[in-house]
Amino acid sequence: MKLNRLFILCAAMLVGVLAQSCCCDSGISGENYKFEDGMIVFDEPSRAAGQESMLGFAADPIPVVRVGFIGLGQRGPGAVNRFTHIEGVEIKGLCDIEQSNVDKCQNMLKNAGMPEAGSYVGPEAYKELCERDDVDLIYIATDWIHHVPIALYAMEHGKHVAIEVPAAISVEECWQLVDTSERTRRHCMMLENCVYDFFELTCMNMAHQGVFGEILHAEGAYIHNLSDFWDSYHSNWRLDFNQKHRGDVYATHGFGPVCMALNIHRGNKLNYLVCMDTKSVNGLEKAAAKMGSTEFANGDHTSTLVKTELGQTIEIQHNVYTPRPYNRLYQLTGSKGFANKYPVTGFTFTEGMLKEGVIPEGATLNPHGFASKEIEEAAMAAYKHPIHQEIEEKAKTVGGHGGMDFVMDYRLIYCLQNGLPLDQDVYDAAEWSCIGELSATSANHNSMPVKVPDFTRGDWNKLDGVKFYTK
Ligand SMILES: NC(=O)c1ccc[n+]([C@@H]2O[C@H](COP(=O)([O-])OP(=O)(O)OC[C@H]3O[C@@H](n4cnc5c(N)ncnc54)[C@H](O)[C@@H]3O)[C@@H](O)[C@H]2O)c1
Repeated sequence: MKLNRLFILCAAMLVGVLAQSCCCDSGISGENYKFEDGMIVFDEPSRAAGQESMLGFAADPIPVVRVGFIGLGQRGPGAVNRFTHIEGVEIKGLCDIEQSNVDKCQNMLKNAGMPEAGSYVGPEAYKELCERDDVDLIYIATDWIHHVPIALYAMEHGKHVAIEVPAAISVEECWQLVDTSERTRRHCMMLENCVYDFFELTCMNMAHQGVFGEILHAEGAYIHNLSDFWDSYHSNWRLDFNQKHRGDVYATHGFGPVCMALNIHRGNKLNYLVCMDTKSVNGLEKAAAKMGSTEFANGDHTSTLVKTELGQTIEIQHNVYTPRPYNRLYQLTGSKGFANKYPVTGFTFTEGMLKEGVIPEGATLNPHGFASKEIEEAAMAAYKHPIHQEIEEKAKTVGGHGGMDFVMDYRLIYCLQNGLPLDQDVYDAAEWSCIGELSATSANHNSMPVKVPDFTRGDWNKLDGVKFYTK
């Protein structure tokens, strides 16, 4: 008996040693990931003492939100302009490397009849702005490399932060945002504007009300030929980043809205992904001409498939290089219905799934074709999200990608003013941003599956669905 047990113990140890050596032989390991149970697993550091989850976090109400803007190139000034249309906001500081960008935004304030803000010019000037004790929110619209260092500095100095997309460029940076937000109890929201677009938010509402039955598959994309724009980025940061980085480096516009529809980390979670990309033709050609590059890491077209805890698949695509119409896809395939935004907008509805009275009298549904425009319009009106009911008209007047940018800024300020949890939390920022490095890692290993870290550290099932709070 004793001998038998000894034999079993030795055999188990041998299997363990062999498994370990297989793992090493696979050659699949990196600074912060290893090969485990058939997939690549990134380290998931445990929560440090003194940190608490930010799920459902609400700060004390801030009746007048005092804001500092950092990064005033192509994107930043639009945000400054939108904020001049929001009640209960004071713009305290404007920061950029270039004096002319700061001056341009000071002029906007002047034209809006608002007081001059503090000017901060230079690569480290953001620190002085973050150190001010009369600022509540730092709004970051710099290149991707500077998002996290600035956000961390701001949170460490007691400021809430809003960060342009993607919030972070690596898994490590995602954890830094989560840990710093949890430790400092400051909001960290990524500015994913597409969540608030009119079709997307209405579809999210429909999905949450069960119009499509069970959602099984979703698609999103950032397909936007940037050939006319490459020369517009400060110091060529974007082409330079893409030249060095493989994978879906700009996933959040396509991914964020579908994650909201699928209630990710509010009763559902992202389990793992696989990624495959094409070779680089146009990216390399551009970088060769502009930078003298002989290599280009980012494939011209990158496709990533993500599996969720509830058995759904999400496909995301990235292509900023080839001549094609702009496309974010936004597609939901449900057991009882279908929604699609790009390139052709339409729905497939089935009997009994829409609220009573939505289908106009005499109209019929076709389960293998798009619903008529008449039905589509009626459904869009019937399921308009309460946030759009409240702010759509003003948003369309102020503008910003047709109004969705204003809805986003308005909601951020509304929640801060009223002491409510924000629509997008730091875990959304991490989950949507981490796709960059995870997809690159999969592509680098012949499309091996890569586990998506659980940035909530086991709390993904604690909230019951996405909720946009109102007072
Ligand atoms: N959500 C959207 O629809 C959308 C659209 C466009 C851009 N963006 C995002 O906005 C961000 C900015 O993009 P862009 O097109 O305006 O780029 P840009 O190059 O035009 O502007 C970036 C600005 O940041 C400034 N900057 C860089 N480092 C700085 C620092 N240390 N301190 C202060 N300022 C600094 C630069 O001087 C520049 O003016 C990016 O994250 C991008 O992905 C989002």
